Amino acid sequence: MAPKDTIFFCLVLCLGQRIQAQDGNFPIPIISAMPSSVVPWNGSVKILCQGTLASYLYQLEILENLTYRVVEKKLGFQEVAEFVINHMDTNTAGRYQCRYGREHRWSAPSAALELVVTGLYDKPFLSTDGGQVAMPGENISLRCSSAHMSFDRFSLSRPGGATLSRHRDARLQGDFTLGPVNLSFSGVYTCYGWHSGRPYVWSAPSNALELVVTGTTSQDHTTENWIRMGMSGLVLIVLLAILAENQLGPQVIHQKDQKDLPDLSWSRQKSQTEWTFRLTPKDHQGYS
Ligand SMILES: *[C@@H]1O[C@H](CO)[C@@H](O)[C@H](O)[C@H]1NC(C)=O
Ligand SMILES: *[C@@H]1O[C@H](CO)[C@@H](O)[C@H](O)[C@H]1NC(C)=O
Ligand SMILES: *[C@@H]1O[C@H](CO)[C@@H](O)[C@H](O)[C@H]1NC(C)=O
Ligand SMILES: *[C@@H]1O[C@H](CO)[C@@H](O)[C@H](O)[C@H]1NC(C)=O
Repeated sequence: MAPKDTIFFCLVLCLGQRIQAQDGNFPIPIISAMPSSVVPWNGSVKILCQGTLASYLYQLEILENLTYRVVEKKLGFQEVAEFVINHMDTNTAGRYQCRYGREHRWSAPSAALELVVTGLYDKPFLSTDGGQVAMPGENISLRCSSAHMSFDRFSLSRPGGATLSRHRDARLQGDFTLGPVNLSFSGVYTCYGWHSGRPYVWSAPSNALELVVTGTTSQDHTTENWIRMGMSGLVLIVLLAILAENQLGPQVIHQKDQKDLPDLSWSRQKSQTEWTFRLTPKDHQGYS
């Protein structure tokens, strides 16, 4: 290869590698809220920003209109930076993002985290017209409504922390249809009301409504129960046999033989424990 070609080859290769390395070195940070991004007024919340081990600076930003304002910076090498809001209020609610510094460069910003403060308006009421017990595959309708407040948005908080949001309908209420449901839909639901003009300021949580989804695996349970009963029966028979042997023939077993049978004495002990559970006190006295 001519020297000129070699230089060109290296230029392409090295440059390509450098660009690739930079992409790999600067993954988009991940922002999250602990324990939840829906925080009661005056409650505390942690905002976590996950970068890389080589990130030496983290910056938390709140998005305002088309720009952002820096809320806090954390200096020091760490993979995850923790920002704490001790007293949540309407000023700390909003859309947050974070980024980290590494090798004298900023990463791209994280996705936006929507931090909501609750408890600023009276609670709405959550109800279901159907039952609170459903079969897998069915749909469940939930209704969030408020007699006093004219909310134009409603959010439903689902087990596992996720929330669903809805416009209110003509009757000043939010209707949510869940389904087709499966077992993971079981749990406690609450809803909130809010105004579209202040999307991060919500009402107090509604009453809690518990939904139970049941019934798919009843057959499996039956089989399981039969197996369990069979096993219990078998264990009982074995224990009875050991007990009978113990009662009828302890004198047959010599001291020497007993040493070879450590399991037997353990089983006998266990069987006696079984018996104390199973016999009535009178029988127990008679036995011992
Ligand atoms: C806010 O919470 C703190 C505890 O974190 C408590 O001491 C304080 O009284 C609360 N303030 C109000 C107005 O409830
Ligand atoms: C954002 O826009 C609103 C009105 O749309 C304005 O009142 C507010 O001052 C703006 N905030 C910033 C930081 O520019
Ligand atoms: C549940 O709702 C879906 C649409 O979301 C519909 O296709 C389905 O037929 C409904 N199932 C029942 C049992 O009503
Ligand atoms: C239940 O349904 C949801 C979506 O409707 C799905 O993401 C989830 O994997 C399902 N869970 C099970 C245990 O089937």
